[in-house]
Amino acid sequence: MKLGALEVWPPVVLAPMAGITNAPFRTLCREQGGGLFVCEMITTRALVERNAKTLKMIRFAPQEKPRSIQLYGVDPVTVGRAVRMIADEDLADHVDLNFGCPVPKVTRRGGGSALPYKRNLLRAILREAVRNAGTLPVTMKMRKGIDDDHLTYLDAGRIAVEEGVSAIALHGRTAIQHYGGTADWSAIARLKEAVPEIPVLGNGDIWSASDAMRMIAETGCDGVVVGRGCLGRPWLFADLAAACEGRDDRARPTLGEVAATMDRHATLLAEAFGNEQHAVADFRKHVGWYLKGFVVGADLRRNLATSSTLAGLREGLAELDAAQPWPDGADTPRGKTNPRDRVHLPTGWLDDPYEMAVPCADAETDTSGG
Ligand SMILES: Cc1cc2nc3c(=O)[nH]c(=O)nc-3n(C[C@H](O)[C@H](O)[C@H](O)COP(=O)(O)O)c2cc1C
Repeated sequence: MKLGALEVWPPVVLAPMAGITNAPFRTLCREQGGGLFVCEMITTRALVERNAKTLKMIRFAPQEKPRSIQLYGVDPVTVGRAVRMIADEDLADHVDLNFGCPVPKVTRRGGGSALPYKRNLLRAILREAVRNAGTLPVTMKMRKGIDDDHLTYLDAGRIAVEEGVSAIALHGRTAIQHYGGTADWSAIARLKEAVPEIPVLGNGDIWSASDAMRMIAETGCDGVVVGRGCLGRPWLFADLAAACEGRDDRARPTLGEVAATMDRHATLLAEAFGNEQHAVADFRKHVGWYLKGFVVGADLRRNLATSSTLAGLREGLAELDAAQPWPDGADTPRGKTNPRDRVHLPTGWLDDPYEMAVPCADAETDTSGG
């Protein structure tokens, strides 16, 4: 798969996930197989203002190549400045733009998955991004639309091609679906037909390598983006690489091997954060995902998920039954699975899809991805 001048093989992308796809997690996934491994979403305004926390979030480990940054922005000028900063200062090798976030505090201000409804604003953002990117490929990630009555993905796809975007990732859900129901892969097939000029990456509900192969076969997409399926399972990238090369071997780590990965993950977080307590607290959300499907007593699970030091975590990990084999049926949904009953939008947002509205300045404050 080619994203501009960037050759990506296997055609597999670790989905940007706020609070998850930091350098430690990307490193664990990348060690398993090739592809693209996208950082957590970064707001363009915070980046151009050189916010200290944001600059820390775009640090890559030395072996991370190519480096992918996902930007979230609503103002064409600020997005352009952020992309130019990335290109001029060699901060990444690829820029992805987030138009899929369904979080109410984002859509309420016209950002994320609400934005493609305003076709001209979307066009202006993509134009500024591509114009300022130099040789860096710019890709976009989006949902099908706001809801079934306000689908935007086909228009957005054509606009992206016209503005020189290098590839499009489509999550086959609308904003109102949030993470509920099942992703509509037929929309990925329709987008592929609508934008034959550039690669289309399919996203949504890939829980195993065979799901990825099925998505490619059913939709004709050029590559896949995998999010929740790799939570607690970085070795899914080994399976994806094997499947893309036509091999049947699949990673089936024992509980002891999983425990070693958990230890390494928490250790890498501690190094990256420079703060053991913060790292161990952040690691808590991963514990249940790593242990999913294994037989582990409730007390031990609780101890692992509440440890406050690396030593405490390691004590718990040492109590796990290291020989326990990989559980059958562990390829099941994990992470967020809830739908929403409405999408919060700015007043009058749906009145005119061609109005050139730039959402209010606070649309970028305190955002988290999705
Ligand atoms: C915890 C979490 C954080 C997410 N953060 C982002 C984000 O920052 N940017 C983005 O484009 N999508 C984000 N997403 C959406 C995923 O990238 C992906 O599109 C979605 O989970 C569907 O893919 P999946 O079924 O493989 O999980 C997030 C999803 C989750 C579960």
